Amino acid sequence: MAAVNSVTDLTREGDIAVLTLDSPPVNALSADVRTGLRAGIGDAMADPAVKAIVLICAGRTFIAGADIAEFGKPPRGTPLSESQAAIEGGNKPVIAAVHGTALGGGFEVALMCHYRVAVPSARFGLPEIKLGIIQGAGGTQRLPRLIGVENAAEAILSGTPFSGKRALEWGVIDALVEEGKLREGALAFARKAIDSKAPLRKVRDLQDKVEAARGHPEIFEKIRRDNARKFRGFEAWHGALRAIQAAVDLPFDEGMKREREEFQKLVTTDQSKAQRYVFFAERKVWKVADVPDDTPTLPIKKVGVIGAGTMGGGISMNFLNAGIAVQIVETSQQALDRGLATIRRNYDNTAKKGRLTPADVETRMGLLSPGLNLDAVSDCDFVVEAVYENMDIKKDIFRKLDKIAKKGAILASNTSYLNIDEIASVTSRPDHVLGTHFFSPANVMRLLEVVRGDKTAKPVIATTMQLARKIGKIAALVGVCHGFVGNRMLHERQREANKLILEGAMPWDVDRVIYDFGLPMGPFAMSDLAGLDIGWSKQTSKSSTIREILCELDRRGQKTGAGFYDYDEARNAKPSPVVEKIILDFAAKKGVNRRAVSDEEILERCIYPMINEGAKILEEGKAQRASDIDIIWINGYGWPVYRGGPMFYADLVGPDKVLAKMKEFEATMGEDFKPAPLLERLVAEKKQFQNL
Ligand code: 3HC
Repeated sequence: MAAVNSVTDLTREGDIAVLTLDSPPVNALSADVRTGLRAGIGDAMADPAVKAIVLICAGRTFIAGADIAEFGKPPRGTPLSESQAAIEGGNKPVIAAVHGTALGGGFEVALMCHYRVAVPSARFGLPEIKLGIIQGAGGTQRLPRLIGVENAAEAILSGTPFSGKRALEWGVIDALVEEGKLREGALAFARKAIDSKAPLRKVRDLQDKVEAARGHPEIFEKIRRDNARKFRGFEAWHGALRAIQAAVDLPFDEGMKREREEFQKLVTTDQSKAQRYVFFAERKVWKVADVPDDTPTLPIKKVGVIGAGTMGGGISMNFLNAGIAVQIVETSQQALDRGLATIRRNYDNTAKKGRLTPADVETRMGLLSPGLNLDAVSDCDFVVEAVYENMDIKKDIFRKLDKIAKKGAILASNTSYLNIDEIASVTSRPDHVLGTHFFSPANVMRLLEVVRGDKTAKPVIATTMQLARKIGKIAALVGVCHGFVGNRMLHERQREANKLILEGAMPWDVDRVIYDFGLPMGPFAMSDLAGLDIGWSKQTSKSSTIREILCELDRRGQKTGAGFYDYDEARNAKPSPVVEKIILDFAAKKGVNRRAVSDEEILERCIYPMINEGAKILEEGKAQRASDIDIIWINGYGWPVYRGGPMFYADLVGPDKVLAKMKEFEATMGEDFKPAPLLERLVAEKKQFQNL
């Protein structure tokens, strides 16, 4: 092997040069990789004994894209455009040999080559959109030339990788080679290219697919219409479509220039900064400071779920989907039947949409055993209790479970608020007790708050995090406190929203501001959806809040056709004159002088106290890092990923600005706005949450 540089080797197999990139873990296009690639191509092109060049990667994958950590930093190393010029301007065929994932800039490098071969398990994709940017090395210009505008737009806007088989069907690759024999297959392909004197095929020169779309603006109009909802608030997709349009309307080099301009504009946006931050946050969240990766885990073959209600059923589905047997337990046959019927109906609906086969449905249902007696979970390795949110009931169940569950089994409570340590204290195995706070609908929402008790053992945490990953969740480790991380912060927003509608705003004003900020719905629409009568009872209702008054009038939310809003049969919400009057009367009764409340105040009042609470949570060590809080809000509450989560948003706004506002609110409105000491300290030290 001849080293080109520390991450690149160039060897010869007869008259074929093999250029190998080896930069673990994923061969991202760091400065060294780009420099090595350029130099290696240059050396091979210059060597008269070389007739063809195979570009291949060592390790688990082909190039997985640009080095995301380099964005926003001063450029180093050789730009990729030089490799592109060297390949396309050279007189020898370059063959990309792909395994693993050819993503982003990695896929673009493959597209610069004259030919591409891959193993069947290889995947190709342009995930830049997920980072708030577009392609920066010709992806928007070359892919439409290969597979047409519609297919390219689909790949670029979804960011979802496609298989080697699909790549072959689309003509993205020229051949599939046998799994595990990539090098041999690529060399054989190169041999053929040399022997047949095949002309050098440059994707940039292909015209027919882009010509077919020329003069058809309706193609782009349809793509915009179809994606408008999905991309509400996002900027990058507009740039992506403009760049693809340039592939249709402009000569290749001008299209490349347009792509570069769009890329440069997007890479500096707050949206892209936020989305790149989230990329790393999603990976950090799995790491638990004092639970190293090599902590032993316990095998989980069978899971018990106590309760077949909405939560219990949804939780069970997660495990069934992952092929894990579930023993579900209810107290009455009727409740059990209802729970099982709901699970089956959910699966049948998915099957109707074509996302499961009828056989898959049966396999999953076959893994589910129903039971009416807690004893049934005696052989389970992990038991999730998902009953009514009441400490006495939960303690009672844990006392019993402790006796029934086998030695070493983990006992988890699906609670949204309650103290795990108190629950654990009634068992003889508090080290094997923890909280697993699933979000509703539990089979859909990705977030899982894993609640660590005082005594929870490290292998129990490691096992639960591993299990969470296995069932496709994103898990954040949190500490015991009321409402844990997500609901504790949500409480701040809800309190301010309730105050704001007394002071002068209407529910739909608050909701509009929060919706426009990018969340899927505002606090009042959310309350209507959940039901206003959660925790309410007619007997104890004292007309002491607007919510109580609404419940007394049987306006209990969407399910009764009325709540903070009026609903039509299709559940479309309309501002309600009745509610408006209730609010005005209530404010008058309380002696509140209503005033005009600006949208800016609504946003700051709802969000800054959440950030402040997040700071307290960090100070108390209830979350490991600010980015974990952001992961919780993005995945559990629909916080827009392009704003990075509440703590990242605070960094964008500036912690000093957040603090100043909190102080201003505190001066006029009191205690609720008392700044967290951590926020004060951050500002004094000119730091940000993300570099705490
Ligand atoms: N840049 C920098 N670091 C990266 C990276 C990248 N493109 N891709 C992965 N990493 C890092 C991860 O942060 C992680 O680091 P850690 O071990 O310190 O946490 C490590 O590599 C392994 O990654 P994963 O844990 O994600 O490993 P998986 O095996 O689960 O997944 C993967 C591998 C499918 C390649 C996944 O990492 C991935 O999707 N990476 C991002 C791909 C991407 O977005 N590429 C486009 C970049 S933008 C671009 O190319 C612009 C271009 O047009 C110029």
